[in-house]
Amino acid sequence: MAGVAAAYAALVAAGELRADPAQAAVAARLQELAETLEAPTPKPGLFGRLFGAEAPPPARGLYLWGGVGRGKSMVMDLFFGQVAVEPRQRVHFHEFMLEIHAAIHAAREASGEDPIPQVARWQAGRARLLCFDEMQVKDIADAAILGRLFTALFAAGVTVVATSNRPPDDLYKDGLNRALFLPFIALLKERCEVVALDGPTDYRMARLAGARTWLVPNGPEATAALAASFFALTDYPVEDRARVPTETIAVPGGRSLFVPKSLKGVAVFSFARLCRQPLGAADYLAIARRYHTVFIVGIPRLAPENRNEAVRFVTLIDALYEHKVKLLASADAVPAELYTAGDGVFEFERTVSRLIEMQSADYLARGHGAG
Ligand SMILES: Nc1ncnc2c1ncn2[C@@H]1O[C@H](COP(=O)(O)OP(=O)(O)OP(=O)(O)O)[C@@H](O)[C@H]1O
Ligand SMILES: [Mg+2]
Repeated sequence: MAGVAAAYAALVAAGELRADPAQAAVAARLQELAETLEAPTPKPGLFGRLFGAEAPPPARGLYLWGGVGRGKSMVMDLFFGQVAVEPRQRVHFHEFMLEIHAAIHAAREASGEDPIPQVARWQAGRARLLCFDEMQVKDIADAAILGRLFTALFAAGVTVVATSNRPPDDLYKDGLNRALFLPFIALLKERCEVVALDGPTDYRMARLAGARTWLVPNGPEATAALAASFFALTDYPVEDRARVPTETIAVPGGRSLFVPKSLKGVAVFSFARLCRQPLGAADYLAIARRYHTVFIVGIPRLAPENRNEAVRFVTLIDALYEHKVKLLASADAVPAELYTAGDGVFEFERTVSRLIEMQSADYLARGHGAG
C-alpha cells in the first residue's frame, strides 16, 4: 500500500498503532503534501523562458506541534519513508544546527564573503525536503541566523516539515533579543501550515513496560544489579572487572571525550562526568552514535540550582533516544521526580516521557541507530 494515509491505516489494522483520528488527519495532510512534492514541476512556457518568470514557490510544509508522546515523530517518519522526493533529509534539529554552524565556520575561513548564502545553497543542494525532528530554539547563536538561512532555503525551493513541543509563537520564548527572531516565526508560519497534534494520549507513557533498567535508589544494590547487566551484555568475566577497557572517542569539532568503561558497544559513565562538566550536544551525539547501550550511574535529584545539569541531561537523553541507545541507570528518584522545580522544567517533561519509554520492552527491542 502506497501513501502516508494508507501506511498509517495499515499499522492500525495490524494492531501496531491505536486508531487516533487526529493522527489520521495529519497523515492525510502529509499525503497531500507528498503528492504535491511528487508531481513533476511544470516547465516554464515560452513566455516564462523569454521573460525569466520566477520558479513557482515550494510546496507549503507542515509544522506539527504538541505534547510529548503524541505521535508527531511517528507520523513524520511515516511520511519521510513514503514520499518519493530526492534529495531529502530527516534530521534532529540540534544535529542540523551543529552542521550549519560548522559549515558557516568553514565558509568564513575559506572566503571573506557572507557565509549564509553559500551555506544555504549547499544545504538546498542536499535536501529539497527537510524533515526536522524536535525543532526548538534555545541558543542565541541559532536564533541569530535562522531568519536569513530559511529565507534563502525557501527561496531555493526547499519544503520543511517539522515536529516540536511548542507552537511557532513560543519558539525561543523569553530568549535574548527575541524581537530579532520574530521575522523567522512569521516566515515559518507562512511557509508551513501549523497543525496541533495534541490529543489526550501520551503513547509513550501508555507503552510502559516493567523491565528493570532504571534502578532506584543509588547504592550498593543498584550498583550490583547494573554490574551484573554490564557483564551479561558484554560477556566479560566479572573477575576481570578492574580491567574493563577505557576509551577516548573523538567529538566533531576537534575535542575528545574520555569513556571510563567501554566494551562491545557498551559504555559506562557517572552522571557527574556527563552532566556536571560543560559538555554539549556534540559530545552526546558522539556517544549516541558510538554506543548501542549506555549506563549512567549516580543520577541525583536535581534542585533549581542544578539547572545547568538538568539542561545537559535533557540534551543527553534526546541524543540517546534519537539514536535508540539503550539506557540503564541508577538514580535517587524515578524520572518524574528527578527535576520538578526550576528553569527548563517544561523541556524536562519530554525527558521524563522518554526515560519511561526507554524502559519499555518495545524500546529495548529496537535496533541501534538514528531514524
Ligand atoms: N496511535 C498510536 N498507537 C500506539 N502507539 C503509538 C501511537 N502513536 C504513537 N505511538 C508510539 O508512541 C511513542 C511516542 O510517539 P512519538 O515519538 O512519535 O511522539 P512525539 O509526539 O514525537 O513525542 P516527543 O514530543 O516526545 O518527541 C512511539 O513509540 C510511537 O511509536
Ligand atoms: Mg518526537
